[in-house]
Amino acid sequence: MDKIKIIGGNQLFGQVYISGAKNTALPIICATLLTEDAVKIKNIPFLSDIKSLNSLLLQLGTQIEIKEEQCNGHLTQTISYCTPKPTSLVAPYDYVRKMRASYYVLGPLLAKYGHVELSLPGGCAIGARPMDIHLSALEQMGAQIEIKNGYVIADVNGRLKGARVSFHSASVGATCNILMAAALAEGTTIIENAAKEPEIADLIHLLNKMGAKIEGENTSTLTIQGVDKLYGVTHEIINDRIEAGSYAVAAAMTKGRLELINANPEHLQCPLDILRKVGVQIETTPNSIIVDAQNAHLVGQDIYTDYYPGFPTDLQAQFMALMCIADGAAMITESIWENRFMHIPELMRMGANINVHGHASAIVRGVPKLSAAPVMSTDLRASFALILAGLFAEGETIVNRVYHLDRGYEHLEEKFKAVGADIERIVIKD
Ligand code: EPZ
Repeated sequence: MDKIKIIGGNQLFGQVYISGAKNTALPIICATLLTEDAVKIKNIPFLSDIKSLNSLLLQLGTQIEIKEEQCNGHLTQTISYCTPKPTSLVAPYDYVRKMRASYYVLGPLLAKYGHVELSLPGGCAIGARPMDIHLSALEQMGAQIEIKNGYVIADVNGRLKGARVSFHSASVGATCNILMAAALAEGTTIIENAAKEPEIADLIHLLNKMGAKIEGENTSTLTIQGVDKLYGVTHEIINDRIEAGSYAVAAAMTKGRLELINANPEHLQCPLDILRKVGVQIETTPNSIIVDAQNAHLVGQDIYTDYYPGFPTDLQAQFMALMCIADGAAMITESIWENRFMHIPELMRMGANINVHGHASAIVRGVPKLSAAPVMSTDLRASFALILAGLFAEGETIVNRVYHLDRGYEHLEEKFKAVGADIERIVIKD
């Protein structure tokens, strides 16, 4: 388990290239299972979650060709996926346990091949993470679903049938799964209370290019007219709004100036508004964001996480780190996940002043200094929050359990070093 060592105190200046979006790449890779043709996906980030999903697809019989190439000014991967005939319709426990987004094979395999066995992912550090919405929608579309020995076993006689399904929560995962399933169903499916995250719009773009008929993009009602067949295409995925938001906070906390290249400000309106209120200068072009905090007097702001276009839960931990060093108090409320405050005890070990109220709200009172400490990552975004605290703190911070970061932040140390951070990975050999 590698560690990251940071000596805090450096202001960050320069350019950060934002990578392809992890949470778009994952469903889109699984959408390639909907056709026998090759589908070429560009701008896929170098992340361990992508490697894990690729291993699962290889196990299903997908042929995968990886090419490294320049895309939007930096090195990315273009991966071609081709599944002419799956050799298995089972997503085993060992794959799903490593990467819960493996559940995105559910919709495509069931719609295309009429059968799938998926190990139930179970909960994780941030919450229980149920799948009831995915399963009940598929049942309404004619699937027979059984839970046996920790697996979802889903079958359908012939094709899935279009249905009107209404989600009790605007789940990103269920919206993706049902979009993919409905694309090949017989008849029309209407999803009510669908998620509106930009990752969903990108999946819709891909599916429509492949021949699907989906309307309602960026709204909470999606209409999918099922088609008989989908085809191979080339698609470039959008860039990662959460990575961009994370580096924006790094500029703010170090009183630096970062230009985030390949970042779409439209996808970050709510977090950028908060940063402006905190006192940071933000300039935008259609595909870049300049975050300038050189003369900023940081002032705490309340945050309430919500479904898109609300404030993203995936930036809550990073913004909490910022509020720890801003003047005044900030109330942070987490409304999406029931256990997403695991970074708080670690931030407090570095001198943050945080009071938790119930399980969903925390009052953060800004302090002038944080002190370096060895800290423990608990999940991907919490880990980045600890890196941010380490960049600000006086002295040497060691962040343990770095594998969380490798799941979702491409070339993290290189990106930070290039803009002036004193950061290095300590490789621990087994
Ligand atoms: C996606 O998770 C993201 N993961 C998460 O990012 C992100 O935090 C989350 O959406 C919310 O934006 C990926 O895209 C791979 P949900 P997902 O289904 O799809 C409830 C990160 O850090 N719910 O939108 O699993 C659920 O409990 C990760 O990159 C049900 O009740 O999230 C939660 O309260 C972490 N039943 C809410 O909906 C269901 O069947 C939103 O969950 C499904 C979800």
